[in-house]
Amino acid sequence: MQGRFVVLEGIDGSGTTSVSRALVQRLSQDGVPASWTCEPSRGPVGQLIRRILKREVELEAPPSSELGACLMTHLFQADRIDHIEQIKARLATGEWVVCDRYLHSTIVYQGQYLGQAGVMEMIQVGWPLELLPPDLSVLLNLPVDVAMARRTSDPHRTSEEVFEDTKTQVYVANAYRKVFVDVSARPVEWELAKHTVVDATQPLNDVVSRVHELVLES
Ligand code: TMP
Repeated sequence: MQGRFVVLEGIDGSGTTSVSRALVQRLSQDGVPASWTCEPSRGPVGQLIRRILKREVELEAPPSSELGACLMTHLFQADRIDHIEQIKARLATGEWVVCDRYLHSTIVYQGQYLGQAGVMEMIQVGWPLELLPPDLSVLLNLPVDVAMARRTSDPHRTSEEVFEDTKTQVYVANAYRKVFVDVSARPVEWELAKHTVVDATQPLNDVVSRVHELVLES
């Protein structure tokens, strides 16, 4: 029995963490074995990435430059190689895995500096394995200004991370919409992978209910 792999994506402040965590709870209440994970992962490369995002570790090539984006793409992919092994092992036991961000994030965030096609090229050339396609990817669609207001009122967010400036968020919001509607903006193996967009302006509980419904239908 193989579990299902569900991914939540969206700009910073769109609620990917809250919704993905609540989704795991709902699935568990349904009696479905489900677990939560995230990218950057909790593994060693993921931890290094988190420190770079918080500006605790400085790179000679800053993440918001072309060279830095190249470096970050390599780091996110290295983290993902390690993480996918963990995800596959969980899926093999029949568990449903809900992941807060995945490859789409690399395509859109690093795409700001390298172009989406440039990122895809880097990923596919440096990736000899199957790019584990999610069974369902959900984009939490939220206007940039609403997401920013949510971020600033969140007491857990202490300082602005490297990609949280308005220019990046506007780029990322548009790029996400493209990736979620245009098959050619995704890896070729993902042609049949299901992608859907959810209105994230609604209260959290309603957004979770809609995503829960979509996951059960998929
Ligand atoms: P988060 O913990 O709020 O999801 O923040 C992670 C940040 O890292 C967010 O700004 C998106 C960014 N990111 C990338 O730039 N590329 C990636 O591949 C991933 C997974 C995240």
